[in-house]
Amino acid sequence: MKYSEFSPLIPFVITLIFSFFCAASAYNHKDFLQCLSHHLSNTSSVDAKLIYTPINPSYVSILNSTIMNSLFAISPSSPKPLAIITPLHASEVQATIFCSKEHGVQIRTRSGGHDSWGLSYLSHVPYVIIDLRNLRSVEVDVKDKTAWVQAGATLGEVYYRISEKSATLGFPAGFCYTVGAGGHFSGGGYGILLRKYGLAADNILDAHIVDAEGRVLDRKSMGEDLFWAIRGGGAVSFGVVLAWKIRLVAIPSKVTVFNVVRDLEKPETKILVHQWQYVGDKFHEDLLLFVRIQTANSTTKGNTKPVLQATFTSVFLGRVEKLLPLMQKSFPKLGLVKEDCLEMSWIQSIVLFNGFPSGTPPNVLLDRSKPQGSPMSFIAKADYVEKPISEEVLERVWERLYELEVGVAFFQLYPYGARMSKIPQSEIPFPHRAGNRFEFTYLVRWNDDGNVTRNERHLEWIRSAYAYMTPYVTKNPRGAYLNYRDLDLGRNNDKGTTSYAQASTWGKSYFKNNFDRLVHVKTKVDPTNFFRNEQSIPPLPLRW
Ligand SMILES: Cc1cc2nc3c(=O)[nH]c(=O)nc-3n(C[C@H](O)[C@H](O)[C@H](O)COP(=O)(O)OP(=O)(O)OC[C@H]3O[C@@H](n4cnc5c(N)ncnc54)[C@H](O)[C@@H]3O)c2cc1C
Ligand SMILES: *[C@@H]1O[C@H](CO)[C@@H](O)[C@H](O)[C@H]1NC(C)=O
Ligand SMILES: *[C@@H]1O[C@H](CO)[C@@H](O)[C@H](O)[C@H]1NC(C)=O
Ligand SMILES: *[C@@H]1O[C@H](CO)[C@@H](O)[C@H](O)[C@H]1NC(C)=O
Ligand SMILES: *[C@@H]1O[C@H](CO)[C@@H](O)[C@H](O)[C@H]1NC(C)=O
Repeated sequence: MKYSEFSPLIPFVITLIFSFFCAASAYNHKDFLQCLSHHLSNTSSVDAKLIYTPINPSYVSILNSTIMNSLFAISPSSPKPLAIITPLHASEVQATIFCSKEHGVQIRTRSGGHDSWGLSYLSHVPYVIIDLRNLRSVEVDVKDKTAWVQAGATLGEVYYRISEKSATLGFPAGFCYTVGAGGHFSGGGYGILLRKYGLAADNILDAHIVDAEGRVLDRKSMGEDLFWAIRGGGAVSFGVVLAWKIRLVAIPSKVTVFNVVRDLEKPETKILVHQWQYVGDKFHEDLLLFVRIQTANSTTKGNTKPVLQATFTSVFLGRVEKLLPLMQKSFPKLGLVKEDCLEMSWIQSIVLFNGFPSGTPPNVLLDRSKPQGSPMSFIAKADYVEKPISEEVLERVWERLYELEVGVAFFQLYPYGARMSKIPQSEIPFPHRAGNRFEFTYLVRWNDDGNVTRNERHLEWIRSAYAYMTPYVTKNPRGAYLNYRDLDLGRNNDKGTTSYAQASTWGKSYFKNNFDRLVHVKTKVDPTNFFRNEQSIPPLPLRW
């Protein structure tokens, strides 16, 4: 299933629109490129291969290089950009904005390319991609405990560069080393340091952004409204982020990691998962313990069948001697013993969480190539849980994992509390704070060989599980997480425009009441809605 099949348009309308766009794009293409080369004539950008057009032999590989979800892979029939611009300087971003405006072309900005719905590289209107792959420096200031991170840097590059300079400084962002700072920090960003230090977006001190007028702004010149909006509200609605200044946080030189797997068909494991809901968000802030439910193959007497497992995974910010009494006090039923635990540096824990064998040198995190293997498709959804869910309901949910004959699926319970409860709901646009016990994540991943029936089956599976959970998660609005973008929640039209009322359906899920302030900021800084996509913040209509 490819992108166009998600379009609400009926097929013959698509044909009409595409033939119209093809004609239009041929025209825009030439004019746009002329405009760009004129504006960049003072730099050697064109020669330096900063602009890739479809006639360039590297165009497809550049376009494909950071596509992470093969559900939105490029195919001969999928929409493609008129050009991919890979800037080295702010001036090239400015020129792209100027020429896109001049010639009615939309901009898609891509940093790490992990957007679940491909919005950073796919559009149904004539468009170009600003791909920030060349802007990826990370400058760490150990004395100041800050770093300037360019938007195209990956989390792996951020973590590695910090660890190179200091063994006791870290940054609270996501697990996966290939995720880009550009999208991730601007949508929230959580990982192993969430409970102690909050989100990546909670730890941003300054930013450089190019706005719809083509101005390069920093925190002071953009003002506190815009600076607020791009930390969790999705910078994509407001401009192109070039770099972030982040606050580094203190970490111990050794952390303790454990991964305890329990058979979920045993009654005591069911009780354990149920009890975790009451304590996961109350543990000491140095202790983050999340639970993943999935199936695994079990072979008895030559017969292989899937069995349900609960995996309790933790990173404790300290040594094992301190962790064991804490676990004995807070969650004794898990029966954690020293042999379950591994002490290592923070950077090694990140290497481990990315699935590399223990002992792999941390510079593996600098590898920017896509993980090998056959193309995978995935769909993720997130919910927030305020009240513990009964054992019976949980069991009904877990059983759904047996329904999938192909692919890998899991549910994950990720604890909040500690620092997350202390940050006010309106501090930044990300609103899910005090009162939330945990985030409930749904994920399904499968080998995409183009079998549409199978793709649909996986989509139906996750949508059905999500529907089933409705009574047990936050409501009015039902919470959602922007970095797990979900177009099932509602979408703007393909041109990226919508009404305030329509956008509120998904906007309030991601941002609760902060949505209104985001609309206000959007109206102020981008009243003509230049930066838009299928889930961008709409400006209010101009009042005369
Ligand atoms: C394998 C995988 C693991 C993940 N793990 C985690 C995790 O542990 N924790 C977590 O919180 N999230 C996680 N995510 C979700 C991830 O945080 C989001 O997908 C995030 O938006 C990705 O950022 P990106 O730059 O890689 O993606 P992109 O696709 O490049 O961008 C995502 C969005 O941000 C916009 N954007 C990108 N760069 C800029 C910029 N410079 N200026 C303005 N707008 C920009 C894009 O246009 C798009 O709308 C994961 C996703 C995947 C696929
Ligand atoms: C190019 O450089 C010249 C001289 O340095 C300057 O006057 C002109 O404004 C520049 N043009 C652009 C498009 O930046
Ligand atoms: C894109 O990359 C994937 C590997 O990640 C590869 O399987 C696929 O063939 C590539 N597609 C194109 C069009 O090059
Ligand atoms: C379980 O076994 C099946 C059939 O051999 C295989 O396709 C699947 O990938 C296995 N699943 C896991 C989680 O190992
Ligand atoms: C496609 O997937 C469906 C569901 O998994 C399966 O029944 C069917 O055999 C597959 N078709 C092909 C051609 O592999």
